[in-house]
Amino acid sequence: MTTKKKLIVMGANGFVAGSVLAQAGDEWEVHAVSRGNPLIRRDQLSWHACDPLVPAQLTQLFQEVKPAAVIHTAAVADIDFCQAHPETARAVNVDLTRTLADLCRDTGAKLVFCSTDTIFDGEHAPYDEDAQPGPINFYAETKVEAEQIVTRLGAQAVVARLSLVVGVPVLGAGNSFLARMIATLKSGQPVAATEREVRTPVDVITVGRALLELAAGNHAGIFHLAGLDRLNRFEIAQKIAARFGFSQKLIVAQAVAAWPGRAARPRDVSLNNAKACKQLKTPMRTLDDGLSLILKMSETPLL
Ligand SMILES: NC(=O)c1ccc[n+]([C@@H]2O[C@H](COP(=O)([O-])OP(=O)(O)OC[C@H]3O[C@@H](n4cnc5c(N)ncnc54)[C@H](OP(=O)(O)O)[C@@H]3O)[C@@H](O)[C@H]2O)c1
Repeated sequence: MTTKKKLIVMGANGFVAGSVLAQAGDEWEVHAVSRGNPLIRRDQLSWHACDPLVPAQLTQLFQEVKPAAVIHTAAVADIDFCQAHPETARAVNVDLTRTLADLCRDTGAKLVFCSTDTIFDGEHAPYDEDAQPGPINFYAETKVEAEQIVTRLGAQAVVARLSLVVGVPVLGAGNSFLARMIATLKSGQPVAATEREVRTPVDVITVGRALLELAAGNHAGIFHLAGLDRLNRFEIAQKIAARFGFSQKLIVAQAVAAWPGRAARPRDVSLNNAKACKQLKTPMRTLDDGLSLILKMSETPLL
């Protein structure tokens, strides 16, 4: 009997984690870690109810599971919430990452950490992996600090910087702007989107596959997981509306939203994905190809 490698997925009820859990192949014995309830049951997948902010609970989990790898998706990713609640943002985005990095260093587990395109200032795109971070809001500051912690693990760790992730939550949970947008369009309401913010959107299926590949292989350092297209949010929304069969007239260009307490957003955080294209078997895609994958998945669910 061959022993399977053990994989811990942190933040298992999240959007990106759902794609990882749904696509983890036979080579893995998967351990989903969440504060919430299990989303699916299947062979080779165990759920662990855990408050990840209590280090003793994670220490015990590592002792029980003995993971070969950890994919760390847990984060407070709402930019405005982070700005208004810096203690919570720091506890989850920085302190939890430090606890996991310490546990991975002590046990030899590989750590794949999800970071973000918004660590950059938005004025010098496209950014490659060596570009200098320039955070302009507190969320981005926490991610930069967490990246530095993870990077210190050297060959044992990967920082996966995700561009704007597009998709329907594979397991039905998590924070998806596309799901919210489709719900609004279905109700016949317009969707406002700004032309000011430029991204290299990547589909959630590709992100899940790439994170699993990074966890399984000898890759180390920073990887940009980003799509092949450089588009503003208005263009992204138009493409989504068209592919999901809604009138593009429902997409309205919006001046940059501003209200008291709204955190600053970087303008253009397009990522150069050449390294991922060269070193990963998982292909990075255009938004059209990513949307095709998402639509195919809706017709033929992964689970
Ligand atoms: N979605 C994007 O467009 C995007 C773009 C760039 C980077 N990222 C990064 O990718 C990762 C995954 O993002 P996502 O879109 O999947 O986010 P998500 O759907 O909001 O999921 C994040 C998960 O983090 C955990 N979490 C949230 N608040 C927490 C708290 N206060 N204490 C403990 N755990 C908490 C939750 O897991 P449980 O409920 O299971 O405990 C939650 O489901 C994040 O690190 C994010 O910063 C995402």
